[in-house]
Amino acid sequence: MTSPVRPGTGTPRGRSVQVEPCPEGPVLVRGAEVVLDADGHEHEVTRPVVALCTCGRTQRDPWCDGTHKFVRD
Ligand code: FES
Repeated sequence: MTSPVRPGTGTPRGRSVQVEPCPEGPVLVRGAEVVLDADGHEHEVTRPVVALCTCGRTQRDPWCDGTHKFVRD
């Protein structure tokens, strides 16, 4: 599972990273510059909003690739 995110250094003062879980889907992260995966590897964030996989079945870890829509436990 993906964990910590680091706020973007270029964001206006007072802004923070926002994390929004989607029911039965990814976690949306706004305002992050870097995402650290469970192994401690840094993944650069190049978009204003990114979707992090929470199901563990993505082929683009740590990013959600939509696989959760087709796989049910
Ligand atoms: S949450 Fe979308 S692929 Fe895992």
